[in-house]
Amino acid sequence: DDFTLQLDGNSQDASNLLLAGERLRLSDVPVAFPTETVYGLGADATRSNAVLGIYKAKQRPADNPLIVHFASLQQLRDTLRPSTAAQNAHHSDGGSVHTDDSDPIPEIYKPLIHRFWPGPLTIILPNPAHSPFAPEVTAGLSTFGARIPGNVLALALIKLAGVPVAAPSANASTKPSPTAAEHVAFDLSGRIESIIDGGPCSVGVESTVVDGLSNPPLVLRPGGVSIDELRSCPGWEEVEIGYKNAAESGTQPKAPGMKYRHYSPKAPVVLFEAGSEPTYAKTLQQYIGPNGKLGIICTRRWNIESDTISTVSLTLDGSLVQLFVITLGPDMGNIARGVFAALRELDRNDVDAILVEGVDDGEELTAAAVMNRLRKAAEVNAG
Ligand code: TXA
Ligand code: MG
Repeated sequence: DDFTLQLDGNSQDASNLLLAGERLRLSDVPVAFPTETVYGLGADATRSNAVLGIYKAKQRPADNPLIVHFASLQQLRDTLRPSTAAQNAHHSDGGSVHTDDSDPIPEIYKPLIHRFWPGPLTIILPNPAHSPFAPEVTAGLSTFGARIPGNVLALALIKLAGVPVAAPSANASTKPSPTAAEHVAFDLSGRIESIIDGGPCSVGVESTVVDGLSNPPLVLRPGGVSIDELRSCPGWEEVEIGYKNAAESGTQPKAPGMKYRHYSPKAPVVLFEAGSEPTYAKTLQQYIGPNGKLGIICTRRWNIESDTISTVSLTLDGSLVQLFVITLGPDMGNIARGVFAALRELDRNDVDAILVEGVDDGEELTAAAVMNRLRKAAEVNAG
């Protein structure tokens, strides 16, 4: 169904949003905006120079395809079938000209779209032969990722821009994803000109990316929609995990394995898989560096009581050590909403390392997404 937004046309917010929409349409400097997952760094997906502006601002290598964001199914269909858009202009009853065999959206996706859009789901679609998108969006692939975000400001912005919006997460490349406008400003100030502040993100981890063009369908990235939720949809009962899931043997901190950096704060991240006994205190010493400070992120069992960051000083082997402790658990939604911000906050305190208590992958909702991000953050840093 099409989404309608009522804006008070005279408010400051409305004029800022209009300005941001205009910049998206005309400028080559990307615009940061909130989504329910993480903040995105948006550009007109049809213009190469605009899309290149994203890579430049993030300093992101150009071999990773971007997700294209739409404000409505109508906009997605019209983008894929420009001739239909023209046709529709002559029909007052717009949608009724669509028949199923001319629909550019494959049937397999219909149950997911119905249930999860607008929301934290990205679907992989065939890139049309005469693609409407700049080649920089798809990084040479014959497919592209599409998403209708579940955030009213994001939808309004895309609608005002009137163009499909390519947007990766609005962090500097390699850094944890931004879940608040301040995170975007911290990473990108001086590199971009506009950030729409929509407060903290309600989901906190990126969208689930699914490929329904392959058989069986695949989850390419775990995210805000869980695999159980996908499996409850017709045609998706047999969906398989198509991403590398590097869970290592239960109780050991993640071993180093160098690839490219992702989700990484300055400090090395040491991930304790779920089921590790909270005996980390015995091993604290080995992670202490020149600053004499350690960060600890607790989820479900380590249970150091505090809502926000708290500091504990103790003496280890005769030297004074400061612990910065953030407790996110036990609620899984809180953990997902808070994990990237916690990594950033501990970094700001110049800790020598960040010890993180993992959660069980198999647990509800966003657990798989959280562990996927933490394993990547730890993978490159533990070495
Ligand atoms: O929640 C989100 O998805 C956020 C917000 C801003 O919408 N965006 C985001 O974008 O996370 P980004 O660029 O950081 O991640 C894009 C993901 C990558 O994992 C990429 O490999 C995958 O989508 N992707 C994009 N196009 C693809 C394609 N044609 N085939 C397979 N994977 C694709
Ligand atoms: Mg990203």
